[in-house]
Amino acid sequence: MSDSTLHKPIGIFDSGYGGLTVFKAIAEKLPDYDYIYLGDNSRAPYGNRSFDTVHNYTLQCVKWFFAQGCPLVILACNTASAKALRTIQQKDLPFIAPANRVLGVIRPTAEVIGKYTRSKKVGIMGTTGTISSDSYRIEIGHFFPDITVYQQACPMLVPLIENGEHESAGADYFVKKYVDALLAQCADIDTILLACTHYPLVEARIRKFLPAGIEVISQGHIVANSLADYLERHQEMESLISRNGITRYYTTDDPIDFDQKGSLFRGDTVRSEHVAL
Ligand code: DGL
Repeated sequence: MSDSTLHKPIGIFDSGYGGLTVFKAIAEKLPDYDYIYLGDNSRAPYGNRSFDTVHNYTLQCVKWFFAQGCPLVILACNTASAKALRTIQQKDLPFIAPANRVLGVIRPTAEVIGKYTRSKKVGIMGTTGTISSDSYRIEIGHFFPDITVYQQACPMLVPLIENGEHESAGADYFVKKYVDALLAQCADIDTILLACTHYPLVEARIRKFLPAGIEVISQGHIVANSLADYLERHQEMESLISRNGITRYYTTDDPIDFDQKGSLFRGDTVRSEHVAL
């Protein structure tokens, strides 16, 4: 598996299952490349953890991807992108693997959000970590200074989804509570970004509690388009990545559990192996 001369996949990382919603879109858009998906399920959720903890966990996983031969790793996790990416890119990579690259999901989303909103009032739903980092407000402000960002932490959604309770009455209670709190901040919000890769599984429920005319955006296709564009612009990286159309899935927790739940997120069969980090 670590035949690093022939097998140079793109690494896709999430704290758990959520990154599979992004990977689904990436695999549809770019089916020829090899991929490795890693879910750090044994330590998920990351959403309420400190900057240091999210950085340490994410860096450990990034090093694991590099050891498998991945020259490029996508953090398909908003929490890791918000709390670990910058430090990894600026402080860690130059020492551990200067030629490798680690990309996140926040910047590609911030770059295109202006296309969706007419009122220039955008709502962000994410984990406590993503919201408290203020990353979306800062990144969107760089590209679209005329957009006002309203943010709502939704700490119960990932645990509900990870525990298979996202279609329950309990999920409805929390979804409504978070949606109401977000819209109470501004009645003119016309676009809501699901800034957590788990949330596509509750997208229909979120829509159920929204007035008509508010657009809800998931990140999968945005990140997939951005990756395609990145590879087009970075031929030195694109030419390194192996193209056998093979994906391998790994979890730091129980593979049987991962395969069952992961298939829901991936929208396809998942067969994973356990990895101890
Ligand atoms: N899917 C991750 C995200 O996008 C989840 C977070 C978690 O582990 O709390 O933020």
